[in-house]
Amino acid sequence: MTQDKPDQSAPRLNLELQELIAGMEQRRERVEGGGGPERQQKQRAGGKMTARERVAALLDPGSFLEYGTFTEHQGGALMGGVDAPGEGVVTGSGTIGGRQVFVFSQDFTVLGGSLGKMNAAKVTKIMDLAARTGCPVIGLNDSAGARIQEGVDSLSGYGEIFYRNAVYSGVVPQISAILGPCAGGAVYSPALTDFIVMSRGSSYMFITGPEVIKSVTREDVTFDQLGGADVHTRRSGVAHLEADGDEAVLARVRDLLAFLPQNAREKPPVRPTSDPRDRQTPQLLDVVTPDQRRPYDMHHVITALVDDGQYFEIQPDWAKNITVGFAHLGGRVVGIVGNNPKALAGVLNIDASDKAARFIRTCDCYNIPILTLVDVTGFLPGVAQEHAGIIRHGAKMLYAYAEATVPKITLITRKSYGGAYLAMNSRDMGADVVYAWPTAAVAVMGAEGAANIVYRRDIQNSGNPDATRAEKIREYKEAFDNPYVAAGKGYIDDVIPMEDTRRRLIATFDMLEHKQEQRPYRKHGNEPL
Ligand code: HXC
Repeated sequence: MTQDKPDQSAPRLNLELQELIAGMEQRRERVEGGGGPERQQKQRAGGKMTARERVAALLDPGSFLEYGTFTEHQGGALMGGVDAPGEGVVTGSGTIGGRQVFVFSQDFTVLGGSLGKMNAAKVTKIMDLAARTGCPVIGLNDSAGARIQEGVDSLSGYGEIFYRNAVYSGVVPQISAILGPCAGGAVYSPALTDFIVMSRGSSYMFITGPEVIKSVTREDVTFDQLGGADVHTRRSGVAHLEADGDEAVLARVRDLLAFLPQNAREKPPVRPTSDPRDRQTPQLLDVVTPDQRRPYDMHHVITALVDDGQYFEIQPDWAKNITVGFAHLGGRVVGIVGNNPKALAGVLNIDASDKAARFIRTCDCYNIPILTLVDVTGFLPGVAQEHAGIIRHGAKMLYAYAEATVPKITLITRKSYGGAYLAMNSRDMGADVVYAWPTAAVAVMGAEGAANIVYRRDIQNSGNPDATRAEKIREYKEAFDNPYVAAGKGYIDDVIPMEDTRRRLIATFDMLEHKQEQRPYRKHGNEPL
């Protein structure tokens, strides 16, 4: 018997292996170095994090798994032999609050984070994985747009991304953080996602930049005035949230995800609370009074009702006459849509209709029950609104409520008049349960307007028109300006004490927990746009 001899080749192999490992590490280091220390320094000097720092700040510590690490550009000769470590984007998966997500983070230090063929391939790879595994996708945008040297390949890359943004819309949540430039057609990827969060002062979004605008329309405008966070969260309604700096934006994204399910087949996570389910809310008696002319802030109603008074408002600074956002009721996530009498008397106009319709559809996609709080006199009258298409925009809201099959509760706090009564999810538009407070009034219009029309002759023929008008208004109010006519006809399911509302809402959402609603077959509806 011969004894086993030690393998003489092992040390040589080990050396080879060590070299291979060192080679891999060197390559990885180069990729992780992005565009190099100088460009990273420039990035930080601008108050921004690098692409990898952002990923680390977004995800749970140590959870990031990178894919496509060694991807190289295929831009050919036009790239002039330029190096593009990581191809200008960092992609992978990780967890947020223990739940899996996919993330891409554009690296401005590498060719301005511009998007070429392989850069797009890295992004679409993780979008496909997210859809297959049923997880949210978060895009951290900081890019100079289409990579000029790659021509049509870079346009095609955007196409590949837009296509997936659309096809996976409503399949898995998609969130876009805008942390730097986002220009040209590139803005349409974020625009196709569910939520856009912008960094104040260091990000912008526009189709054509200041220089092009100057040459075409002669208008002088800065980047920030054209498409900064202020513009898109207050005027255009393009963005949903903003925050000061990268870290705050990423924290907003994490907070937002806590209200969303992983995908359309799941429900959002329940958040346990010590806030009693049957907590009474007597403070509401001071907020909403019978005096229809005394405005109040619907936020006070919302924070009184929801768990721990915490309301995560979406688009808080745009179309303030309607408020939309997420909260918990008895631990369950709900989406809230409420007229806000404090702004524009809470009327519905074009922007409010668009804002609400979009939010309702987002809730419906992701199995989030909807609570609608109604105090509205109607749609905003005016030539400007009519000519800008309030009919078309208001129809979006009607459509969105009727289309939504999630549990829907409507609470009329005070006025609910005319077409707006229907647009705010009346029973006929598909509310599962409609409650009203004793302060509520459901009618075609307010008492003053109604009396002037219905009793015009009586008022004109009266010896004392003012006294007759006042008398008729009083008569009308007694007859119609209350919730009981509508309740008597079954349009309101119950008139409930204001202080017992939280308990009622939680119990009613419990009752609706397993709601199922089938609709007739169709390819898809033809939503008004
Ligand atoms: C390739 C680009 C690039 C681009 C910038 N770079 N834009 N590389 N393709 N589109 C490179 C620069 O050469 C530079 O490389 C680095 O990125 C940083 O750019 P700077 O100009 O030095 O940065 P800054 O001064 O901060 O200005 C940023 C900027 C500017 C405002 C974004 O770069 C710019 O205007 N770029 C062009 C933007 C653009 O027109 N993109 C096409 C939009 S149309 P070095 O090596 O020096 O670091 C579009 C269509 C999409 O995107 C269509 C989808 C359907």
